[in-house]
Amino acid sequence: MGRSVPAHVGIIMDGNGRWARQRGLPRNEGHKAAERAIHDVVEACGEIGVGYLTLYAFSTENWNRPRAEVDFILSHLLAGFIKRNIDELDARGVRIRTIGRTTGLPSRGRKALLDAIERTRANSGLQLILALNYGGRAEIADAVRTIAQAVAAGRLEPGAVDEAVISGALYLPDVPDPDLIIRTSGEERLSNFLLWQSAYSELCFSSVLWPDYTREDLEKAISGYMGRERRFGGVDTGGGPA
Ligand code: IPE
Ligand code: IPE
Ligand code: MG
Repeated sequence: MGRSVPAHVGIIMDGNGRWARQRGLPRNEGHKAAERAIHDVVEACGEIGVGYLTLYAFSTENWNRPRAEVDFILSHLLAGFIKRNIDELDARGVRIRTIGRTTGLPSRGRKALLDAIERTRANSGLQLILALNYGGRAEIADAVRTIAQAVAAGRLEPGAVDEAVISGALYLPDVPDPDLIIRTSGEERLSNFLLWQSAYSELCFSSVLWPDYTREDLEKAISGYMGRERRFGGVDTGGGPA
């Protein structure tokens, strides 16, 4: 008895700094080295038939890092990653989207991101969702503000606010909740990733540092997921006596 391939996989790409430190390199070298892992995982998800891949690339808390590291990730690396990969992604039918407070991104990275989103808008393959300046609490706060405005304007009754209304006010309401969330580098926490959407996600923690993560690691995580039983608060559905 197996489950099908997860429709939506989320990855908390962690461990770039430790990867660099182990080699006596500056932290930014770890972020650079992450590009190979991103490339391979995106390619694999497209081939395996995953519908949505959300990559946690920069959190609302990551602004607490040194300015040079923040600039490197959000300007240099983001724009560079898109420049180096956009032709291949587009040719593979990947649609690029984003979650997070996009307006807070530095202009160079933001422009590259918005151009890539525009260019790939009509693609019907894997949806690659880049979580940038993203926080689960920020997303819920933004949704609550939108809902409060609708109530204040008389477009929505307070009594009509239910789970569907909240889901509908999140950044990408058409995207299904993640079936599987993977975190690398041995840390076992969500760090503010998809808090609302992860209510029933299966979690997979890998000790591999993100720059070393391979297609084989992803395939192992997915086949592990496919062997698990999800209950959603119900009862055991596996084979045995009822
Ligand atoms: C993940 O790697 C990348 C980002 C959070 C941007 P880290 O930079 O957090 O690496 P560690 O956790 O310090 O090893
Ligand atoms: C989570 O990693 C954020 C991203 C992967 C973008 P962090 O390295 O920022 O998380 P903490 O601080 O260890 O919880
Ligand atoms: Mg980290």
